Amino acid sequence: MNIGVLISGRGSNLRSLIEAQVGGQLSAEIATVISNVPDASGLEIAASHGIPIKVINHKEFDSRKNFEGALNKALILADIDLICLAGFMRILSDTFVKNWRDRLINVHPSLLPSFKGLNTHERALEAGVCFTGCTIHFVRPAMDDGPIILQAAIPTLPQDTPETLANRVLQQEHIIFPLAVRMIAEGRVKVEGNVVKIEGASFHSAPIINPFE
Ligand code: GRF
Repeated sequence: MNIGVLISGRGSNLRSLIEAQVGGQLSAEIATVISNVPDASGLEIAASHGIPIKVINHKEFDSRKNFEGALNKALILADIDLICLAGFMRILSDTFVKNWRDRLINVHPSLLPSFKGLNTHERALEAGVCFTGCTIHFVRPAMDDGPIILQAAIPTLPQDTPETLANRVLQQEHIIFPLAVRMIAEGRVKVEGNVVKIEGASFHSAPIINPFE
C-alpha cells in the first residue's frame, strides 16, 4: 500500500510514520510527502530518509480548484492508495474529499466530536474536561468530521497548560497514527455508515475515573 503524507509544518506525526515504516510496523510505504508550505521542516525529515518530497504552494494558484488539481495529479502520479493528513493546514474541498472517500485520514488533537477546529487544548482546559486526547478519522466534507478509526484518551491535570497538554497528546498521536495506517494497510478497517469496524481489534473495558479520590 502506497501512502501519501500531506504536511504544512513541523512534521512530528510524519516522523512517527517514517519511524514505523523503518521499524517494519507500518505494512505500507510512504511514497510521497507533499507540503503546501515551501519551508515546512517536515520536508527535511522525509528527504533525509530518501522519501520523495514535493512542494505544492497554494499561494501559487489562483483558485482552490487548481491547487487541489495539482495535489490530485501528484498523488495519482505517485500511485497513492491512502492519504494521511499530518498537520496539513488547508481545508480540502468537498470534491477532493469525495474523490478520496475512505482513502483519506486525518489526525486531530482532541477526542472528536469534541473540540473540532483550532486551539483544542486551550478550549479543553477552559471547558474543564477531565480527559482529552486525539483522534484518527476518515475525512468527510465537514471540518474534523468523519468515521473515527482510533482514539487515545489522556487525563487532564490541574497544573496543565495548553502546552503541557499538547505535548502529552502529541505523544499519543505518534502512537495511534502509525497504528491506524497499519490496520488499514492490513485490510482490517471497514467503514459501515458512520462507524468503523476493525477486524481482530482488542478493546479496553475498564472505566477510568479522573480525579479518582
Ligand atoms: C498535530 O497536533 C495534529 O494533531 C494537528 O496538527 C499538528 C501537526 O503536528 N492536526 P506535526 O506537524 O505532525 O508535528
